[in-house]
Amino acid sequence: MKIVVLQDYSSLSKHAAALVSEFIQRRPAAVLGLATGSTPLGLYRELAGMVRRGRVDFGRVTTFNLDEYYPISRTNPQSYYCYMRRHFWGPLGIAPGRAHIPDGNPADAAAACRDYELKIRRAGGMDLQVLGIGINGHIGFNEPGPRLTAETHLASLSPETISANSRHFEKAADVPRSAITMGLGTIMRAREVLLLASGKSKARAIGETIRGGLTTAVPASLLQAHPRVTVMLDREAALCLRRG
Ligand code: F6R
Repeated sequence: MKIVVLQDYSSLSKHAAALVSEFIQRRPAAVLGLATGSTPLGLYRELAGMVRRGRVDFGRVTTFNLDEYYPISRTNPQSYYCYMRRHFWGPLGIAPGRAHIPDGNPADAAAACRDYELKIRRAGGMDLQVLGIGINGHIGFNEPGPRLTAETHLASLSPETISANSRHFEKAADVPRSAITMGLGTIMRAREVLLLASGKSKARAIGETIRGGLTTAVPASLLQAHPRVTVMLDREAALCLRRG
């Protein structure tokens, strides 16, 4: 794992944007795996600025999102579908046919998961996967537990995740309890991974991800077995990595 510690969130976002834009300049038709949530917002804003200034072109890029709440409709402003339209697909000019996200309201969830996994494989898998991390060490919505699932699946969210996500919803009753997420195998097959974390609340999970053993109790720790991972952190998220 390559660990990069930046001063603050703004610098983290700029460095992440430089890495992603250089990647796209080398591979203009790359397949990107994308996270939602608060952490990559700065990265997406920086990339949108680069696109506006003509510094990088995402016109040939294909994207697959890690996850979507379940059940949720695409018209719900809290859906990751709406988030992506607002923060990534729209500003970066990704054509609808190239932008993929699990359907949060499928008639048959198991079939929808199989279909999503197949689409990823047909696209050749992810060249670069952008990840955030939960305070409990989840990636995508692969939550800690006795076992992890390899492929895209319907997952129950842990109480910590439901509580962390509740900041985006008006009423506790509206916070989704489940999500459709890529599995650990789907993520590990990405050829390169960029994991981002910002703030003190992520410090423990980052410490366990990087310094602990590989364990299903911290799903992100499995990334230690991946050959090309960059972990970009701000100083607060790196607090548990200090020696001594
Ligand atoms: C979102 C996702 C999640 C988030 C994680 C951190 O697509 O897959 O794993 O990356 O919950 O969320 P934030 O960045 O909001 O702290």
